[in-house]
Amino acid sequence: MRTVLIDIIAGARPNFMKIAPIIRALDDRKSAGGRLRYRLVHTGQHYDARMSSDFFEQLGIPSPDVNLEVGSGTQAEQTGAVMTRYERLLIEARSDLCLVVGDVTSTMACAITAQKIGVPVAHVEAGIRSGDWRMPEEINRMATDAVTNWFFTTSETANDNLRRAGVGEERIFFVGNTMIDTLLANMGRLRRPSFWQDLGLESGGYFVLTMHRPSNVDEERHFAQLLAAIVEGTRGLPAVFPVHPRTRKTLEALGAKIQGLHLVDPQPYLEFNYLVRHAKAVITDSGGVTEETTVMGVPCMTLRDSTERPETVTIGTNEILGTDPEALRAALDRLFSEGWKKGEIPEKWDGRTGARIVGILESCLFR
Ligand code: UD1
Repeated sequence: MRTVLIDIIAGARPNFMKIAPIIRALDDRKSAGGRLRYRLVHTGQHYDARMSSDFFEQLGIPSPDVNLEVGSGTQAEQTGAVMTRYERLLIEARSDLCLVVGDVTSTMACAITAQKIGVPVAHVEAGIRSGDWRMPEEINRMATDAVTNWFFTTSETANDNLRRAGVGEERIFFVGNTMIDTLLANMGRLRRPSFWQDLGLESGGYFVLTMHRPSNVDEERHFAQLLAAIVEGTRGLPAVFPVHPRTRKTLEALGAKIQGLHLVDPQPYLEFNYLVRHAKAVITDSGGVTEETTVMGVPCMTLRDSTERPETVTIGTNEILGTDPEALRAALDRLFSEGWKKGEIPEKWDGRTGARIVGILESCLFR
């Protein structure tokens, strides 16, 4: 029987919840005599347990077959290290397909490396665009899609973006959202974090804050103004802030000015989503979190000028506020005085995306 070897690339935290359902679907087919084999390649872009191995454990992802151990660095340093090491792997032990997810540096670096060596590329979460070239993720999305053979998409907007870029209909597969597969599969397992009682948290009575974009956190004064708006605007309710390693550096420089916020370590998946599910609202500059709040029906305020996931705004519970502290104050006032839109769940965000992807890969690879 002819089999096909797929490299599944995982690099940074937001990749892990996207690969888990694909791996599960591949394992299901394998036990049913499937012809798709996989090799799990971790680039090592995120390496702290709290940013990486904790997620593998909680989500039941097997240990990586290969770890490229690239570690931290500038955008170019990380890209170069991933490319050099992944190319070496492909030369020594070639795969038949490189499957990348999302938009982190590892996604782009592996896609380009594979395609240059003649290994076709599948991109999960293809076609989304913010139009904001100041974010490295936007460059990563464009560069990845420029070398992708099969595009797996989360929305009609993504399909339209790809069509406009000249991608043929036969290469676009609207499958839904693997991140939501993971959320739905774990909804009954979400776990109250150990600090819940110490911080006096009550369901619907606190805020969750996540911020790590350079545009928000790298400049101390601006970051301090945003934090002040949050402390005032949340009107004495606790605001829990799981702090990304990048953000911690700026917070330490700000010192005492951040009293009123509860800083905690980056949370594992089950604890983080427990916090989100029971929050009054989430304030964030993440992309993925806006999809999870949409599915959980939790009000979400995004501190960015644009989004590559417009359905979280047009269909879901998200609002794009920009990065002006005044806009945040106004939105918090509105939340307390009028409440928030309820939102609905976008098409095909139904928990079955991983299985759809694997079914399509089988038919494309064994045509
Ligand atoms: C990456 C992704 C971003 C995602 C974010 C959060 C890109 C371009 N960006 O950004 O889309 O939202 O992850 O998960 O890929 N660090 C550690 N331990 C780690 C990893 C990082 O301490 O395990 C520190 C390092 O000092 C590093 C900094 O965090 O310099 C930033 O890490 P990096 O991987 O460069 O990008 P993120 O900001 O995490």
